[in-house]
Amino acid sequence: MPAARITGLGMYVPPRVVKNDELRRWFDTSDEWIYTRSGIQERRWVEEPASTAELGYYAAQSALAQADKSPQDLDLIIFATLSPDMYFPGSGVLLQHKLGLETTPALDIRQQCSGFIYGLSVANQFIRTGMYRTILLLGAEIQSTWIDYSPEGRTVGVLFGDGAGAAVIEATDSPGVGILSTHLYSQGAYARELCVAEPSSATRQHILPGSHGMRPYMNGKEVFRHAVQRMGEAIQAALSAQGWTAQEVNLYVLHQANIRIVQAVAEFFGLPMERFYNNIHKYGNTTAASIPICLTEAAQEGRLQRGHKVILAAFGSGFTWGSAALVW
Ligand code: ACO
Repeated sequence: MPAARITGLGMYVPPRVVKNDELRRWFDTSDEWIYTRSGIQERRWVEEPASTAELGYYAAQSALAQADKSPQDLDLIIFATLSPDMYFPGSGVLLQHKLGLETTPALDIRQQCSGFIYGLSVANQFIRTGMYRTILLLGAEIQSTWIDYSPEGRTVGVLFGDGAGAAVIEATDSPGVGILSTHLYSQGAYARELCVAEPSSATRQHILPGSHGMRPYMNGKEVFRHAVQRMGEAIQAALSAQGWTAQEVNLYVLHQANIRIVQAVAEFFGLPMERFYNNIHKYGNTTAASIPICLTEAAQEGRLQRGHKVILAAFGSGFTWGSAALVW
């Protein structure tokens, strides 16, 4: 049975840097509040009009180049996003067309901040069964367009950024490398604790004249509490499945929602923060894009090397969460 291994990584963030202080144009907030509560100093926002598929396209080009693959080599595209270009169809088919492909299958994943981990798991299964050999996995988001810029929107509005990350995942016959295990979870009982409930198939509000229709809601404290507990459990599941100790893992890459969540998980496992790759200070929460953006930068900085033991973990809206254990 072949294993699945990441052979190319790429990222794209829009050039426009939005520092915490700029957010005071819309919100009663401060650099000090945002930085001490979340670790965020700045994020990237697109200049409108922009397209999530296009951000993904730029990241995909870098990942394909690094893997020395052309779009024609792809057997499947998996596109994780909570901010697709259209209500339907998903952004995967738009990316497929941009890549100049005719009928290559494209699948969208709707698991928000856990989207990349879910996508990795799907890619792993397709490769291990022998159905596909080369898969492109995207996490891409434009979130600056759904932020609620009214005063009530400040808790959510200061946290999110735009960006994209991509991974080429290929079959390998080398033993003991690549994606070794994934663990996925969800709990719909908490769907309303972190959501954009409209536009919705349940209401017609979004087509009324003058209605903006987007009202993101987040119960920050509840999400924070669950994120620490659930990512800790998912990491423990990955460690147990591999028979690894927390200490022998070379690098942890956790979804970048709040640096204090990462600190709490590090503390739970008795690990130094240096063992976790973080870049939330530069990009904020880029949802499905955050893990592949981290992986791309970690590899560029030499912190991810062949043979390294790596654990990825994410938690987000749904609630959804999960982990993956890899030997790089
Ligand atoms: N600027 C200034 N003050 C603010 C802001 C702001 N931007 N936002 C809220 N406040 C105020 C609130 O109104 C409240 O004021 P009050 O006490 O007078 O009512 C106060 O700040 C709340 O402060 P804290 O309780 O200290 O806030 P907390 O420490 O809970 O931090 C935060 C809030 C950053 C949102 C945190 O709860 C968090 O990170 N939660 C988890 C986020 C997350 O993990 N999301 C998951 C992924 S996202 C996805 O899946 C799409």
